[in-house]
Amino acid sequence: MPGTKLKIKIFGEPILRKKAKPVSQVTDEYRRILSQMAKTMYEDSGVGLAAPQIGLSEQLIVVDIGDGLYKLVNPKIVKSQGKQSINEGCLSVPGVCIKVKRAKQVWLQAQDENGRFIEFEAKNLFACVLQHEIDHLKGKLIVDYASLLEKLRIKRKLAGLKTKVKAAKLQL
Ligand code: NI
Repeated sequence: MPGTKLKIKIFGEPILRKKAKPVSQVTDEYRRILSQMAKTMYEDSGVGLAAPQIGLSEQLIVVDIGDGLYKLVNPKIVKSQGKQSINEGCLSVPGVCIKVKRAKQVWLQAQDENGRFIEFEAKNLFACVLQHEIDHLKGKLIVDYASLLEKLRIKRKLAGLKTKVKAAKLQL
């Protein structure tokens, strides 16, 4: 896998809350970034990663739930149906797990790493991960789905993550 591993942005970093910009043209630079994102995802044992998580506010995601790597540019859900609830974690919110209700099946439009327009259907875990990563492109995180009880449960952990982000900033 080419590319170097990148540092993951953690809850509290403002970029995780920004809306990511669409990519106008899929250049070699974006192909390089997608490879680096994939490498980072695998090394951190993730099943998906979105560009804002590596500090880039652009619409790029990588997903691999175990049956192949998807590198997607400007992904959009055009149709969804059904419901599922899965306990989700996020590399940007370490140590936190939230049960998130999402569509069970989604239809996507995106571009591949060569800029070709593609359309496909995803179900179950694959659909869940795609929705999670596309949420990242909208500045949305799993903590936004937490119930009142879950919010109380994770409050201290989230405050701890924010403190770590501040501390990291001071370590020039
Ligand atoms: Ni995530």
